[in-house]
Amino acid sequence: MVVVQGKTHGTPCRAKAGSLGQMALPQPNPRIKPSKSVKLCYTLMYVAETAGIRELADGEYGPHDKTLEDGIDRQINYLLDQVGCSQPGFRLLEIGCGYGRLLRKAKARGALAVGVNVSAEQVNYCRDQGLQVYCCTYRDLLESPEWHGQFDGVIANGSLEHWVQPEDVKAGKMNEIYNESFAIAHKVMDPDTPDTRYVTTALHVKHALNPDDLLIPWYRLPRGSNRRQFSLLHQWFSGYYPVLGQLEVCAKPFFSLEKEVDGTLGYKIASEYRMTRMWRGLYTNPKLVWGIAKALVRHPYTTATSLVGYFIEQAWDWQFRGKEPPTTLLRQTWKRNAQVLL
Ligand SMILES: C[S@@+](CC[C@H](N)C(=O)[O-])C[C@H]1O[C@@H](n2cnc3c(N)ncnc32)[C@H](O)[C@@H]1O
Repeated sequence: MVVVQGKTHGTPCRAKAGSLGQMALPQPNPRIKPSKSVKLCYTLMYVAETAGIRELADGEYGPHDKTLEDGIDRQINYLLDQVGCSQPGFRLLEIGCGYGRLLRKAKARGALAVGVNVSAEQVNYCRDQGLQVYCCTYRDLLESPEWHGQFDGVIANGSLEHWVQPEDVKAGKMNEIYNESFAIAHKVMDPDTPDTRYVTTALHVKHALNPDDLLIPWYRLPRGSNRRQFSLLHQWFSGYYPVLGQLEVCAKPFFSLEKEVDGTLGYKIASEYRMTRMWRGLYTNPKLVWGIAKALVRHPYTTATSLVGYFIEQAWDWQFRGKEPPTTLLRQTWKRNAQVLL
């Protein structure tokens, strides 16, 4: 089968011919420009790859686990089981596939695994590993008819938090974007496959964040305040979190919520493993230090923000700490509605 390369939004991904075991899918039609700040965050995150940080979502840990990857693998297997990826030939789409760990696991189960991702660095990494990954935003799939009806299941593992920006919230577009994402997941699934599922993992907040706070430079906000931590997170990671229950409203009329699991503790443990690895890297890995130095020269504000946010104010890990952490990680399984009742 041949993977046809089409136009992109000028992203410098290396083109790669399709091969056996891949689906015949063209490059999606460019429709929406991927967010520059999300792309930049993953250009900077690529530096962490030299410290062995290649999985960016949550994990699920048991008492005998010893490494970051033990919990990540358990979480990925859970997501694959939930989506029904158990038969050879299962056609799986992952939205925001990072460095492709979930796609590799799906392939090992015999699936035809396809990823879309806005990060050119990660797409190239995945393609070098023989994975079928396209450099685009998932939003392009809405108007890419060759992709419709092609999949038996869809997973978005930790990418949903980037889909809405504070500017979208201010413009009243938040629910519209989530609703469209469910419409897209519905469209790309094969209506003839019985019981298709969409599985998401996403950080949520109890009360809506003020979008204006996220746009205020973090250093102007009071030290130690939630406002400053969330502003740091946005100015480094770029995105916005849904409120508990919001996705369920936006999923109608495309999907109904079938199962929900709280994975906040697993995300905390995974994040602590990453923090230890990053500190060790800072002291022992010249490649990591050199990568950070180059990033500081090329993108001073965002790199400095991410360094302060990660190592000093620890905004990332802060999200999961305390008796009542400020965020909740939900793993949600959505069952596709056969009829869309608009
Ligand atoms: C936190 S990472 C999770 C990566 C991977 N799923 C994992 O578990 O390691 C979020 C991923 O979503 C991708 N992403 C963010 N917004 C996207 C969009 N609109 N369309 C496609 N991919 C997107 C990012 O480039 C990144 O690879």
